[in-house]
Amino acid sequence: MAKRLFIKTYGCQMNVYDSARMADVLQPLGYVPADSPEGADMVILNTCHIREKAAEKVYSELGRLRPLKQDREARGDGRMVIAVGGCVAQAEGEEILARAPYVDLVFGPQTYHRLPEMVARAARARSAVLDVEFPVEAKFDHLPDNEAPQGASAFLSIQEGCDRFCTFCVVPYTRGAEYSRDAAAIAAEAQRLVAAGVREITLLGQNVNAWHGRGVGGGEWRLGRLIRHLAEIDGLARIRYTTSHPRDVDDGLIAAHGAVDKLMPYLHLPVQSGSDRILAAMNRQHGADDYRRTVDRLRAARPDIALSSDFIVGFPGETDADFAATLRLVSEVGFAGAYSFKFSARPGTPAAAMEDVVPERVKDERLETLQQLLGVQEAAFHRSKDGAALPVLFERRGRRPGQIVGRSPWMQAVIVEAPERLIGEIVDCRIVRIGAHSLHGEVTVADHDSPTQRVCA
Ligand code: SAH
Ligand code: SF4
Ligand code: F3S
Repeated sequence: MAKRLFIKTYGCQMNVYDSARMADVLQPLGYVPADSPEGADMVILNTCHIREKAAEKVYSELGRLRPLKQDREARGDGRMVIAVGGCVAQAEGEEILARAPYVDLVFGPQTYHRLPEMVARAARARSAVLDVEFPVEAKFDHLPDNEAPQGASAFLSIQEGCDRFCTFCVVPYTRGAEYSRDAAAIAAEAQRLVAAGVREITLLGQNVNAWHGRGVGGGEWRLGRLIRHLAEIDGLARIRYTTSHPRDVDDGLIAAHGAVDKLMPYLHLPVQSGSDRILAAMNRQHGADDYRRTVDRLRAARPDIALSSDFIVGFPGETDADFAATLRLVSEVGFAGAYSFKFSARPGTPAAAMEDVVPERVKDERLETLQQLLGVQEAAFHRSKDGAALPVLFERRGRRPGQIVGRSPWMQAVIVEAPERLIGEIVDCRIVRIGAHSLHGEVTVADHDSPTQRVCA
């Protein structure tokens, strides 16, 4: 009989990808996806450790799951297996078991290919199973081919882990050392996705442009070469990649932005700060001017490229002058979107032990100032598309009947009144109105019955 599996995902896109693969791994055991934890036979929390708030969410969610598990067992409906995976599991597995002893299974991001075995062990043992190793075998070699994806856009993990050790960041500890998959395995996965109807692939890695894998036919490739190779896949219309480190943007990647039409003109390139002093304390290994130069070169290669970024305010030692340098960089570069965060001291990272802690009140003020500036830039970017004709990849139904929603080349949500059969297609649209969080458009080709005529790559 089918067993119900509910997975709740926190954190970055890598976790979204991993959650889908966990479902694939458990499918042969009879687990089918469920959309709520009520009545589920197994619940997995795929967790994120990046900031304190993210990590604390796990414990409050576990608190909500506990009565569900108890009720089910009291009714005699069998056990509800509660599993905690992802980066909190990796970082504080023992602590989870101590704080929430009703958890059955704790596993890290590098061991979920062993889930069937863990589930079997947990069923036999009355005590919890903990598997947070960094195993010698690569998880990717032990995962089944992924199941038919739902939708027009899919993630594909090509690189994992990180060797950069920014002083604020837990990722090198939770995900381990940098690892790049072979180009042939990546291309095969991309082919399968496209065969299942995917039109857009986002290549994923914690530091995706550090990817340096075995090329098809030998030799070592870097990301620009891989993108050119994937662009040859018929039916694949759009390629994106995230998240990049400015230091790993090399000539080949910049050239690919100029040469590969399928590579979308939108790049998330986190800079964190505009102050050289703070960038050095963060161990980012570049200065603010290096970032400016990289952006200039990207824009020279692909004039319509838009950038988004991540920022941290209130890093230890950040002065008013340092923060002013960040605002200056933002004003000069101009971002189409951004995420910004207050520095969160993470256990075990070098920055957590640094002096000159910035008071919470100052962090709040700086965050607000920065977000205001970034908000103005984002709104201006959206407005710049008013009246534009642009290709939209439709992904899903809209909230209102008759509406469908897609993405512009710059990741903007575009809402259009059009038939549902256009979902999965790339259609030329004209932007007629700019909303708060999305663009509104209309299909520019009158003939609704022959979508292929207006599909473009
Ligand atoms: N690999 C990516 C970042 C992954 S984490 C990169 O190198 O850019 C995503 C974002 O979370 C980071 O870019 C950073 O802005 C933020 N972040 C990471 N650790 C943080 C911390 N300790 N406090 C506040 N923000 C943090
Ligand atoms: Fe973290 Fe820095 Fe690695 Fe990004 S590059 S994952 S911020 S250590
Ligand atoms: Fe979070 Fe782990 Fe991703 S800490 S951001 S889920 S790599």
